[in-house]
Amino acid sequence: MDQGPAVNDLAEFMGRNLALEAVRVTEATALAASRLVGCGDERELEQAATRAMFTALNGLQIEGSIILGEGPEEEIATLYNGQRVGEGGGPAIDVALDAIEGTTICAKGGSNVISVLAMAGKGGLLHVPPVYMEKIAVGPGLPEDVVNLDASPAENLKNLALAKGVAVSDLLICMLDRPRHDELMNRVREAGARIMLIGDGDVSGVVAATQPLSGVDLYIGTGGAPEGVLAAAALACVGGQMQGRLLLRSESDKQAARALGIEDFRRIYGVRDLALGEVVFAATGVSDGPLLRGVRRYRGGAVSHSLVMRSHTGTLRYIEAHHNSQRKAGLDSLGRDEQAGRSE
Ligand code: FBP
Repeated sequence: MDQGPAVNDLAEFMGRNLALEAVRVTEATALAASRLVGCGDERELEQAATRAMFTALNGLQIEGSIILGEGPEEEIATLYNGQRVGEGGGPAIDVALDAIEGTTICAKGGSNVISVLAMAGKGGLLHVPPVYMEKIAVGPGLPEDVVNLDASPAENLKNLALAKGVAVSDLLICMLDRPRHDELMNRVREAGARIMLIGDGDVSGVVAATQPLSGVDLYIGTGGAPEGVLAAAALACVGGQMQGRLLLRSESDKQAARALGIEDFRRIYGVRDLALGEVVFAATGVSDGPLLRGVRRYRGGAVSHSLVMRSHTGTLRYIEAHHNSQRKAGLDSLGRDEQAGRSE
C-alpha cells in the first residue's frame, strides 16, 4: 500500500483531533436514520442517511476522497466511491464509510444498526472490491496469532480460552446469522462455546470483540470486505487482532480485485495491512447492539451513543450526546437539522 506523504500530513493534523469531528458526522447520520427505524423502506432510509452524512462530511476541513463508499458512481448518487468530500483546505484524507450499516434490518426495526466512518491519510485504507471477506478478530492483550483463519474453530477456541484463562464454555462468539455459517456454528457449539448471532452489522461485531463490556470474545465469519476495512480501522486505534481474506468466488470478483491491484487472492490481511498510518474511527448507534445503544428520541431532543477513537493516541471515547433541538437557532426541529447534516 502506498503510504505517501499525506499519511504524515494526517499525523500533524491530529492536533485538531479529527476524530471528534468525525463523530459529529456519524451522530448526524444516525439521528437522521433514527427517524426512519422500522419504516419498511430501505431506499428512503438510505437516502436520508447518506444525505445527512454527505452534508456533515462536507463541513469538515479536509480534502476528502471516498475510497470505500456506498457503491460505484454509476449506481449511487451520494457517497459513491471516488467522490470528493470536505470543505477543502486541510489534509488529503481517504474516507471509508457506511452511512447505515444494516439498512435492511434498520428498515425492519431490528437491532445492531450503526452509522460508521473511518479516515486515514492518503493510501492509508486498503481499496477492496465489494466482495465477501473471511474474518476472525479478537481484542487486545492476547498473544500474537492466538486465533488464525486457517485453524479449526475447536483449535482457535481452545487457544483463546487458554490465553484468556477461562473455559471454552465461557467464551462468547459473535457471528452473522447466515445459512453460510451453519457449519461454523455447529462446530463452535460442538466445541462448547456460546454464540451471539447478529442479523447484520459485522463492523460492530468485530469491534465488540475488543470491548470487555460487550461480552464478545471472538468475532468469526464471512461478511463484506469493505466492512472488514472499517473494522480494521477501529482495531488500528484500539488494539486487537484481525485476519481477513477476500472471498473471490467468480471470475468477475477476481477481475474486480485485480483492477484494484490485488494479485494474491489467498492473502491473509492483518489489521495494519487494511488500515495503515494514522487512522480515526467513529460510529454511532442507530438501534441497540452489542457495541452501542441506539438513538433515543424525546420531546425536544434526542440522545445518541457513539464510539470514537484515533490511532495517534489510542484514546477511545464513548460519547453520550444530548441533542437539544430547541437551542438550534433558526431551526424548529431536530429533524430539519439532521436533514442539513448538522449535529451539535
Ligand atoms: P449493509 O451496510 O450493506 O446494510 O451491510 C450489512 C451487513 O450485515 C454487513 O455488516 C456485513 O458485512 C454484510 O452485510 C454481510 O453481507 P450479507 O448480508 O450478504 O451476508
